Amino acid sequence: MARKIAAGNWKMNGLQASLSEAAEIAKVDCAEAGVILCPPATLLAPMSTLLRNTHVDTGAQNCHAQASGAHTGEISAGMVADTGAKYVILGHSERRSDNGETSEIISKKVKAAWEAGLTAIICLGETEDERDKGMTLDVVSAQLAGSVPDGENDGNTIIAYEPVWAIGTGRTATPDEIGEVHAALRDGLADRIGAHAAMDIPLLYGGSVKAKNAKEIFAVSDVDGALVGGASLTAADFGPIITALAAS
Ligand code: PGA
Repeated sequence: MARKIAAGNWKMNGLQASLSEAAEIAKVDCAEAGVILCPPATLLAPMSTLLRNTHVDTGAQNCHAQASGAHTGEISAGMVADTGAKYVILGHSERRSDNGETSEIISKKVKAAWEAGLTAIICLGETEDERDKGMTLDVVSAQLAGSVPDGENDGNTIIAYEPVWAIGTGRTATPDEIGEVHAALRDGLADRIGAHAAMDIPLLYGGSVKAKNAKEIFAVSDVDGALVGGASLTAADFGPIITALAAS
């Protein structure tokens, strides 16, 4: 069994004053479930310090594939680790679309993250057009093959399935839709690293996860948790999702 994880992606939201919200989130009882907060880069160091002695870990939302050098505005995986963060989200659909990140680029970033000792939360998911054309499983399988370099294990990798049409839209994939993709991802990982090792890699669902639909989503087989955007910004919204995961 993979460990249960509730990860919050704050995206481009959060100022210094928002650190108090992170402290509130850390007070939510999560039993055995892991909780990760991924704030904007400006908050990564203070949040990592603030949460050091809590059960909540921190992660970045991106890192560069190179360890250092002339890349203005970029942050390396080593710099992320230096803040005390343990995770980095890579391949989010907003970075794939806004920044032209291909699976090939993402794979290089994952390698850099692993080298820095970070666990990569690797995102993949189909667009609405791809789903309508019946291409969903082909698309996510290709993204899995292209974005994850050889060497994944339950310590360095979390996979997040996030259908692009469900992100920030209030439209959630149905349990059947989620179950079908998660089963395909588990099979894809089993082909790469064996069935036993594949079972231990957490598979998260993301896309309009809210308190009201969390229980139903966590009941889907092969769903080990969630990557949550909008509903991770406050303890009032994220708390019930963490509680639902812990109880699942
Ligand atoms: P959302 O975002 O929960 O606001 O839909 C999820 C994500 O992009 O990770």
